[in-house]
This record gives sequence, C-alpha cells and structure tokens, in this order.
Amino acid sequence: MLEITNLTKTFGANTAVDNATLSFQRSAMIGIIGRSGAGKSTLLRMLNRLTDSSSGSFTVEGHDMTHLRGAARRRWQSQCAMIFQQFNLVPRMDVVSNVLHGTLNRRSTMATMFNLYPTSDVHRAIEILDRLGIVEHAPKRAEALSGGQQQRVAIARALMQDPKIILADEPIASLDPMNAQVVMQALRRIHEEDGRMVIANLHTLDTARRYCDRVIGMRDGRVVFDGTPEQLTTGVARDIYGAGSDFSEAATSTAIETLDSTDTHAVPA
Ligand SMILES: Nc1ncnc2c1ncn2[C@@H]1O[C@H](COP(=O)(O)OP(=O)(O)OP(=O)(O)O)[C@@H](O)[C@H]1O
Ligand SMILES: [Mg+2]
Repeated sequence: MLEITNLTKTFGANTAVDNATLSFQRSAMIGIIGRSGAGKSTLLRMLNRLTDSSSGSFTVEGHDMTHLRGAARRRWQSQCAMIFQQFNLVPRMDVVSNVLHGTLNRRSTMATMFNLYPTSDVHRAIEILDRLGIVEHAPKRAEALSGGQQQRVAIARALMQDPKIILADEPIASLDPMNAQVVMQALRRIHEEDGRMVIANLHTLDTARRYCDRVIGMRDGRVVFDGTPEQLTTGVARDIYGAGSDFSEAATSTAIETLDSTDTHAVPA
C-alpha cells in the first residue's frame, strides 16, 4: 500500500534522509529506531508532506503523493494523521473541542469561525474518547490532563480524521513508563482493530521490539535495518546505534520492562 523509492532530503550539505527505499505491502505496526539525527523525523515529515523531499518519491496504493499541492495535499495529510511527542493540543481548550479539531480539513471557514460542529461529529468524538478510556475528561481543559491522557486526546484527534496511516513521532518520549505503555497499547489496538497502519519513531529498543511487527533502523540518513523484532539482535542494534562493544541494551530501554516484571511479581499467576 505504501512504496517509498529513493526518498531523499538534504539541508544544505547535510543529507538528513539518504535514498530511503521501503515497501509496505499491507497494514502493519512499524517502529523506526536510530540515534538522534538519524533522519527519523524527517522521513515521517516527508511522508506527511510537512516537508518536501529533495528527490525520490512515495506512492500510496499506486498514487504518487510526493508532489501533491493545495487541496490534494491537505486531503493526503488527513489520510496520514501525525502524532507528536509534545501532543500539540490547544491547552486551554476542552478535550472534546481538541478532538473535533481533527475534522478541520473538511469544515467550512464559517463553521470553524463559529465553532460549529455537526452533532454526529460530537458523538463520534465522544465515542473515540470512550474507546481510548478518557471519556470522563471530555469537558476538561486539555492542560488539566496528565501527559498520557493528553497523548490519548491527540490520538483521538487523529482518529477523527479516519486516517489510513498514523505517523507518530516519538509518541512516548515525554511520558513516564506507565503512561508510555498505555499509549503504545492504544496505538497497537488501533492498528489491530481498525487495520490502520502505524509508523512510530521510537527512542527505545524494547518498545520497538515489543509493540511492532516490523522494525526499521536508520543511521546517518540511511535505512540500515529492516526486519522483524526477532531479527533485531543486540549486535544489529549496536550497528544501528553506531555504538561500540560497550553498547548496553538497557541504555536505550525505558523502564517498561522493569514495570512489567514488577507487575508479574506483584500478581502471581
Ligand atoms: N529544518 C532543518 N534544517 C536543517 N537541518 C535539519 C532540519 N531538520 C532536520 N535537520 C537535520 O537533519 C538530520 C536528521 O534530523 P531528524 O530530526 O530527522 O533526526 P531524528 O532521527 O528524528 O533525530 P531525533 O532522535 O533527535 O529526533 C539532522 O542532522 C538534523 O540536524
Ligand atoms: Mg526526531
């Protein structure tokens, strides 16, 4: 469904993404890993068309998305919702209105100006919030919620667009381990239940292994690994991160595993 061919982005002399070629035949949950500056965000931003690519192309179901302009580009952007590390909600606005912002692409200027939403959209927003386990927070201001709850509001806003693909740039990097787990589980469920493709930049190895069907490793702008979590051995990870023999898996692990093992001890089978 998604074919990326020689996609490249340069900033002056710096090649942020270098000839990325990737094929996604069917919906999956995909993790992208790599050290800081490897080009993970730039790749997602090109896919979402927040950034234009310097060369190369990508197609979705055979249609070229690389050069869309104007309304066609905005239509594509609503098909591939983006989620960010910092949630990007309107802090002082209530949760439901934040979620309804996901419909912005298809509303008229007048409706937007007067904050008018069809009742069916409001019902849908509530349903989505319920599905994500945060419906009781619907009337609150976004800023009154915890980080994990705010990220789920951002996911709800993305779902409001009914996207084919969800692009998540470090969705759990600002969250504590417990909230990180809740958010990753929510993304996994959305993939499994709705068949939506999820592509997430992840800064920890264990999260990628645990939640993803496929992991892509980037180094210096290039795709250097593309395989299953099982194929992502410590040696491979060391190569991706460009680390020496002192590389420790724990260095890139969140405390999620620790949290899990604590849970297992606390609740004996
Ligand atoms: N707008 C920009 N202008 C100039 N250089 C940029 C810009 N955006 C990214 N870069 C450069 O492109 C390279 C890749 O950056 P990118 O943000 O994609 O990396 P990343 O893998 O997402 O890193 P991180 O894990 O820190 O988020 C880096 O060298 C970065 O400095
Ligand atoms: Mg990044």
